[in-house]
Amino acid sequence: MSKRRVGILTGGGDCPGLNAVIRGVTKSAVGKYGMEVVGFYDGFQGMIEERFTMLRADDVSGILTHGGTILGASNKANPFAHPVGSGENRQLADVSDKCMSLYQDLGLEALICVGGDGTMTIGGKLAALGANIVGVPKTIDNDLMETDVTFGFDSARLAATEAIDRLHSTAQSHHRVMIIEVMGRNAGWLALESGVAGGGDVILLPELPYDIDEVVSVVRKRSRFGKKFSIVVVSEGARPQGGKQVYREIADDTTEPKRLGGISREIGEILEERSSIECRVTILGHLQRGGTPTPLDRILATQFSVSAMELVAEGKYNHMVALQGNRYVAVPIEKVMGVQRVVPLDAPLMKAALAVGTSFGAEIAI
Ligand code: F6P
Repeated sequence: MSKRRVGILTGGGDCPGLNAVIRGVTKSAVGKYGMEVVGFYDGFQGMIEERFTMLRADDVSGILTHGGTILGASNKANPFAHPVGSGENRQLADVSDKCMSLYQDLGLEALICVGGDGTMTIGGKLAALGANIVGVPKTIDNDLMETDVTFGFDSARLAATEAIDRLHSTAQSHHRVMIIEVMGRNAGWLALESGVAGGGDVILLPELPYDIDEVVSVVRKRSRFGKKFSIVVVSEGARPQGGKQVYREIADDTTEPKRLGGISREIGEILEERSSIECRVTILGHLQRGGTPTPLDRILATQFSVSAMELVAEGKYNHMVALQGNRYVAVPIEKVMGVQRVVPLDAPLMKAALAVGTSFGAEIAI
């Protein structure tokens, strides 16, 4: 009799902890449940193009601490909108039937989709076509619904905080305003938490459009009262009141074409001109996504992956594993499809930041 099989893919942008999940799934599938594991390369792209590998326990040995993903990832691949043709004939086609045939031909009992809201949305759509899906919440943005935290966030928060710390000392030496832009898409978790951890004087979030007059006034006041430098932490999704977000790229081969980035340059120019204090801009970029996972991310990844295999073993499909309070739970995948968890303006950490004198660049009554 052939062995029971489970598939795994890492979708969306990569982050520290993906390898720890691949390891946790493979080791528990093989060792605890006697199952085989099929790993698809480059997220859903590997399913579309029939590129996969059998993962044995040996293949995942030693990868717990490694950044990235041994399977590769794609934040563009989507079986429901796959680019076909070229030039004027190029269009996005639904090739999900190909993925479903492969799923069946490989004899998969379930497919573990490791990713953010985009990956969960595709996973949920494949579930509607008959695949058994189990989701594992990943993203440095920490913006998945129904889970207190995603793995990858802690490592990105550490990278951003360390960068702010480094900018702090040079800001102080040169009496400059340092503006640091962090990732996060339309959710300000990374900016808020690294900003508070790094002692940012101003933190600008996508959830609260800023008033540039307020930002100028904070920097000027600090200077007048002896603090000749300031730290402004900006989320890439931030925008001025009445203004727009800034995109660094519009990709033409994906259903999510807008790539945020660059708002901090606008802020730097205006701030320097209006405050007469020298400003420098740092866009942290993909440094936040690379490198080794923190202990917390290794623990989350291990616990999430083992919980995902438990769901497979129980036959509890079309759920995502999640952390709620101190409990690992399973939530229906529909609850996380196509929605993002943003920072509520009455978040306790925002209150704490206000209490220690941090500005969010706008009037806020909490
Ligand atoms: O979702 C993760 C993330 O790093 C976002 O914070 C960022 O906006 C986006 O991905 C960057 O995408 P790319 O790797 O395509 O530049």
